[in-house]
Amino acid sequence: MPEQKERKALKLVSRSARQWKAVHMKDEKPCPISFERDYSGVTTAADYADAWLRLGKAVAVMPDRESVCGTYFISDSGCNRIAVFKPVDEEWGQSGRPLSSEPFKGYAEAFLLGECAYKEAAAYLLDHNNNAGVPQTAIVKCVYPIPTCFGVSSGMGAFQVYQDNVGDADDYGPGIFSKENVQRIATFDLRVLNCDRHGGNLLVQETMDAKVRKLIPIDHGYILPDRVVTPPWPAWMQWPQVREPVHPSVKSYIQSVDFSHDLAMLEEELADKIHSGSLRTLRITTHLLKSAVDIGMSLYETGLLVYSSGTGKSKSVLEKVADEAYAAGLVREQRIESQLDLTALEHSSSAEGKLQPTTEDFIVRYASKLIDRHLEVLQGFGSCISRARSHPNFLRRPSDKPPKKSLISSSGSSPVASGRLREYRALRLSSPSHRPEN
Ligand SMILES: Nc1ncnc2c1ncn2[C@@H]1O[C@H](COP(=O)(O)OP(=O)(O)OP(=O)(O)O)[C@@H](O)[C@H]1O
Ligand SMILES: [Mg+2]
Repeated sequence: MPEQKERKALKLVSRSARQWKAVHMKDEKPCPISFERDYSGVTTAADYADAWLRLGKAVAVMPDRESVCGTYFISDSGCNRIAVFKPVDEEWGQSGRPLSSEPFKGYAEAFLLGECAYKEAAAYLLDHNNNAGVPQTAIVKCVYPIPTCFGVSSGMGAFQVYQDNVGDADDYGPGIFSKENVQRIATFDLRVLNCDRHGGNLLVQETMDAKVRKLIPIDHGYILPDRVVTPPWPAWMQWPQVREPVHPSVKSYIQSVDFSHDLAMLEEELADKIHSGSLRTLRITTHLLKSAVDIGMSLYETGLLVYSSGTGKSKSVLEKVADEAYAAGLVREQRIESQLDLTALEHSSSAEGKLQPTTEDFIVRYASKLIDRHLEVLQGFGSCISRARSHPNFLRRPSDKPPKKSLISSSGSSPVASGRLREYRALRLSSPSHRPEN
């Protein structure tokens, strides 16, 4: 065989995947990393795809559904799908994908160009113990070009194990999905502030039980926005499973989530690819999710604070909280700069024996305080929350329009204000059909 054929056509780039392979298959140089995730599926798929690519017989086809980014099914010569490859170069706005339509209108500031593949890899990492069922995903480098309808594709990209499926959530009613399955996915979306959870991004698989189907969450290029935004109404917000009390196993998972662990993991694996704004978002959403579930709110009730139930133009409570915190952070920065008091700051910190928090910390703490206060108010009206939990009324027709008034005062004052209970109830009972136009 010519020497060139011996070269890898597809290289695993993710350190954690390479380490898994080194430990379990002794087929990679060790690449020590402080955490362990299961990459058995990805490494097998990558080896298989590599072999077909080297033979020059791998096939790359695009899914039927037109998408704004380059997504390819890599198949063997018999057209058996091995994996989904999403090259960085073919993400929206990148050189390999000169498309006109802008995805996620209005989210331009929230997502930086060329980071979707890394977000896909981050999604798998953040889905601890495969809680939500995100398919195994790693960053790979495709060394041999793959012929595609857009020319040839090579370079870095997200490589995800192909999941057999019988369609997506848009093809079914929600009644065939288990409460736990739906709640685990909702938990994931809330935690990473997923901005792209339409039904097409939930694949459906058959199970042993003919009456139950399983949801597989895919397409995580638009998670962890650089600043907190109001994502479009996700598919599951319209489903009854999220209005029920949080399943005990889901609750204990949420309680176990630890932002500092997530941060260390993302920094180690994806270093400069996941930006500080995204990490700040994760910190704020983790705080909201944990606190809301702690006081007995359902995932639907939590979702009402995160998604816009109106026309899609109105900001969520969470976005308003974050805006207020960003503004406070800016004021703090300006004050520090204008006083030119950095030296004094250093002295005062050492005198107190502790460091001043960074503006990043300050923003997160500020937002967390506002969230806590907001939840306190809702908890003060706790009877409405617990009644909703014990007697969910999914058939109730909407009688109120979503509130026009913000739950957070635009003046930047405390989020506590009169009339909250009425507004909150209106939100809680507002129709699932108030899906924003995306
Ligand atoms: N891991 C997977 N297993 C099986 N099919 C998949 C997988 N990932 C994606 N697909 C299929 O490919 C389609 C496009 O993938 P995906 O949604 O991830 O990319 P996209 O380019 O962002 O698409 P869109 O813009 O339409 O949401 C999906 O709708 C799904 O049918
Ligand atoms: Mg999609």
